Amino acid sequence: MLEPFADLTLFITGPTWIRPGVRAAAALPEFGHRDAENDKRLVPAMRGLRLLAGLPAEPDGEYELLLLNGSGSTAMEAAVRSLAAPGETILHVPVGAFGESWRTMSLANGKTVETLRFAPGEAVDPQKLDDALLACRPAVVAVTHNETSTGVVNDHLALCRLIRERGALPIVDGVSVFGGAPAGLAGSGCAMYCTATQKSLALPAGFGLAFVSAEALEKAASVPDRGFSSDILRQVERARKHQALTTPNTALCNQLAVQMDHIVNVEGVESRFARHARLRDMAHAFVAGLPGFDFFAPEGFRSPTLTAALAPKGWDFARLKRVKEALRPRGWLFDPGYGKLNQELESAGGRVCFRIGHMGDVSEEMLAAYLAGLGEVLAAS
Ligand SMILES: Cc1ncc(COP(=O)(O)O)c(C=O)c1O
Repeated sequence: MLEPFADLTLFITGPTWIRPGVRAAAALPEFGHRDAENDKRLVPAMRGLRLLAGLPAEPDGEYELLLLNGSGSTAMEAAVRSLAAPGETILHVPVGAFGESWRTMSLANGKTVETLRFAPGEAVDPQKLDDALLACRPAVVAVTHNETSTGVVNDHLALCRLIRERGALPIVDGVSVFGGAPAGLAGSGCAMYCTATQKSLALPAGFGLAFVSAEALEKAASVPDRGFSSDILRQVERARKHQALTTPNTALCNQLAVQMDHIVNVEGVESRFARHARLRDMAHAFVAGLPGFDFFAPEGFRSPTLTAALAPKGWDFARLKRVKEALRPRGWLFDPGYGKLNQELESAGGRVCFRIGHMGDVSEEMLAAYLAGLGEVLAAS
């Protein structure tokens, strides 16, 4: 016999809480993914995703949208496999664990890698990036829009402009921000913007989403050994028919269609971004009002979808994990921080940090109730 599953409201940084209407959509009929029923779901869903990216609903020759079975990492791996040829350098610019993981993907695929690394909590310094661009003349540069391990947001559009000025193709990890803040892709020069379904889109995981530019597709044609599902040229042929390359999760397709209809036609794209900004402000006011706690990210670089807070001196990771367990019986899942980062901070004698995910379909009322409960537990811990 299975144990009963707890129905917790997730305030972690993904996967995120799924509202009842989207949960119910998983029970809509399964369908054939090469049948006309596929189009009823994926044609409007893909239009909605393009609008959310700041693109026209219909492909206009600048970007195409790929639905890759897998998750955000699947799209990120496809970017490095499809866009860097042998002998070319990919410059990775990690500002935390997920930037590091992208670099690992390039190395695991035998790519030539240079690294410009920023300390946890820092954003990319454009001057240092420019120096690195001049020094290593990369063909491709991988940057993170929103670093989930530290709560740092980079000005990805400014970084894309700089990278292009130096003649390289920018690729961007937007996994934990897409759907919660503008991606601003039209005219951005970004070659490939990668994201996923389980964060600010408030869906289960299952698709890596990739917006690929016409220039990226042209470049891929000259790159050998792009793999099969990591080949953006193979993917785009299917995407042009509003299909996934291999069999998709049809329950997720149903949920994606229902959720994109809600985002575009009920909530509205701009209202969704505005709600995320209000949630962020609530989280900031909460952290600012906690005696002894501080923000991990510097002002001006704090994520619109999650907030990382430094605990007072003397707190350890174990204490944050106890906070998590104290919140569980109240129906909430607390995020005691990115494990590896907290272990490193702790062993260096630094302050540990926890995170508040405030993305997806969470309302202001839900966040207010959670922050009130969290405040009580932190005060008693
Ligand atoms: C910023 C960022 N990049 C990449 C990933 C990896 O995405 P996925 O788990 O969807 O493969 C994550 C996951 O948390 C993330 O937050």
